[in-house]
Amino acid sequence: MNTVIKAIAERRSMTQLTKTPSFDKELVSTTIKDVLKHTPSAFNSQSSGALVITGDVHEAFWEEVRHRVLPLVSDEKAIIRTNKKIDGFKAGDGTVIFLENQTINQSLRERFPLYASSVDLWADQGQGFVQYGVWLALHELGFGVSLQHYNPLIDDYIYDKLKVERHFKIVGQMPFGKIAGEFSSKSYIDLSQRYFER
Ligand SMILES: Cc1cc2nc3c(=O)[nH]c(=O)nc-3n(C[C@H](O)[C@H](O)[C@H](O)COP(=O)(O)O)c2cc1C
Repeated sequence: MNTVIKAIAERRSMTQLTKTPSFDKELVSTTIKDVLKHTPSAFNSQSSGALVITGDVHEAFWEEVRHRVLPLVSDEKAIIRTNKKIDGFKAGDGTVIFLENQTINQSLRERFPLYASSVDLWADQGQGFVQYGVWLALHELGFGVSLQHYNPLIDDYIYDKLKVERHFKIVGQMPFGKIAGEFSSKSYIDLSQRYFER
């Protein structure tokens, strides 16, 4: 199996995390910057961005998520599940918060009116490329990773406390850390329903 396919096949969602002994923050930040720099985007717009939080900032972020989510969860089992998930994220090394630059996307709409109605679609696709690149790259570094969406519930905290400029849309959160659980099993649709040749 070639190394790209191997990484694609091995990558999974891991929500139960712990701290990596001698966590190398510099390596993570270089890796994520490389993904951002080299991932393709429509019109080469490079409208996707990332904020990486670690240490106390990362832990306070997940406490804030807990504080905002729990009042919305009603039954006892869901509360236990939610707490377990948030504990798992918080116990990890850090979180990548994905950002989308709305100023760049607005300027694309104005510069290319013919394609204006496609800009949001291509921005989402560009986000997917970057998020998947980061997920695969963090997996290759040995981290357990998952993709979460606590936006828009947590958006004002990210703007105000984490000082993200308002022209960035908050798109997703990717907690990562040392793997501290089992991967859940998953099913696969028969590829004959998804892959075609003529
Ligand atoms: C676009 C996208 C959005 C996702 N959003 C969430 C999410 O909000 N919360 C979550 O726990 N997992 C989320 N996931 C993870 C998927 O549930 C997971 O990738 C899928 O069940 C397959 O499992 P695997 O990642 O272990 O292969 C998302 C995945 C993708 C690609």
